[in-house]
Amino acid sequence: MSPIKECIKRKKVNTNPIWIMRQAGRYLPEFRKIRKKNPDFIKLCLNKNIVPEITLQPLRRFDFDAAIIFSDILMLPYGLGQNVKFTKGFGPSLDKTSIKLMKSVNKGEFFKKLNPVYKSLNIVSKNKLLKNKDLIGFVGAPWTILVYMQNRQSPKKTKALNNFSFKKTFTQTEEIKVIKIITNFLKLHIKKQVENGATLIQIFDSWAELLRTEKAREKFIYRPNKELVDYTKKLGVPVICFPRGVENYKRFCNVAKPDAVSIDYNVNPKKIIKQIDIPVQGGLNPKVLLGDKDKIKKEALKYLEIFNDHPYIFNLGHGILPETDPEKVKYLVNLVKDFK
Ligand code: CP3
Repeated sequence: MSPIKECIKRKKVNTNPIWIMRQAGRYLPEFRKIRKKNPDFIKLCLNKNIVPEITLQPLRRFDFDAAIIFSDILMLPYGLGQNVKFTKGFGPSLDKTSIKLMKSVNKGEFFKKLNPVYKSLNIVSKNKLLKNKDLIGFVGAPWTILVYMQNRQSPKKTKALNNFSFKKTFTQTEEIKVIKIITNFLKLHIKKQVENGATLIQIFDSWAELLRTEKAREKFIYRPNKELVDYTKKLGVPVICFPRGVENYKRFCNVAKPDAVSIDYNVNPKKIIKQIDIPVQGGLNPKVLLGDKDKIKKEALKYLEIFNDHPYIFNLGHGILPETDPEKVKYLVNLVKDFK
């Protein structure tokens, strides 16, 4: 059994498994070289001749316990007929969409558009580098996808600290309808990833923090995540949820019941360990990797020690920053592997 699965199944492990969110990407010079030659990001995600190699790049350098397929959560709106563009320094821009447009897309068209993603998974899943390691497939959670579909770009940080603004295109009643459509297509997307070799699914609810009341979180975060978790478990594959900034991780875990929960860097690890008993992943602030080795050691050991008697998958509290030096990643991986 792979180290991550052993951890999830609460088997005694000698060392903590480790992988890093956004591990295949911009902090690696070998990725930047490929990216330079492929200015269209969506096209790159759909290139089955290149995606398997990008997915494996981090494993060629570091002893990670998983590869994550090189793709994006915004492939879903793309599959639903909403074009997506990425601009340097700005991030994603999405075309307008409507319920009518979404409803006009059938399964066959959706699969046809995203087929290269599944093909790439199929190719990487056979690679020897993945022996006894997991291949992670992923989706954005329905709420996070809805935010991008309506706002058509990343939510903006407003001047008031910790406050974000985002546009709504749909009324509340429409929002519920759209969440349903999105959820159904997310299920198909999960199923195809699993059928093509994903051995683990992670659900990113990157904008969970935008909802400030329990009532709204119940409707848009907890229950939609639960629906996808149940669905993925039925496929026989473990599922990790990352409800970034959700505030009430306890309630999230009680309702959604993922196999493991990934915590963001604002979560107090000592507190969370008292609140939830499922395996935990992540937490370390990605900024720590921009500091010197002493700082990295101090911060990483903090997590390793707190989670010493709790099933724990080492990871960061959000994606790795593009300016991270790969040498620091190597240092971190060795540190985690040498612990205990
Ligand atoms: O290495 C990996 O983790 C696999 C690939 C992966 C990407 N995006 C590639 C990518 C994964 C798992 C994602 C998830 C993703 N995408 C999320 C959830 C995680 C999170 O960060 O909260 C979100 C919100 C997106 C949407 C998205 N994609 C944004 C906002 C941006 C622009 C800003 C940024 O972070 O780069 C992207 C672009 C993107 N996705 C890049 C990569 C490697 C950079 C593209 C480039 O080179 O310009």
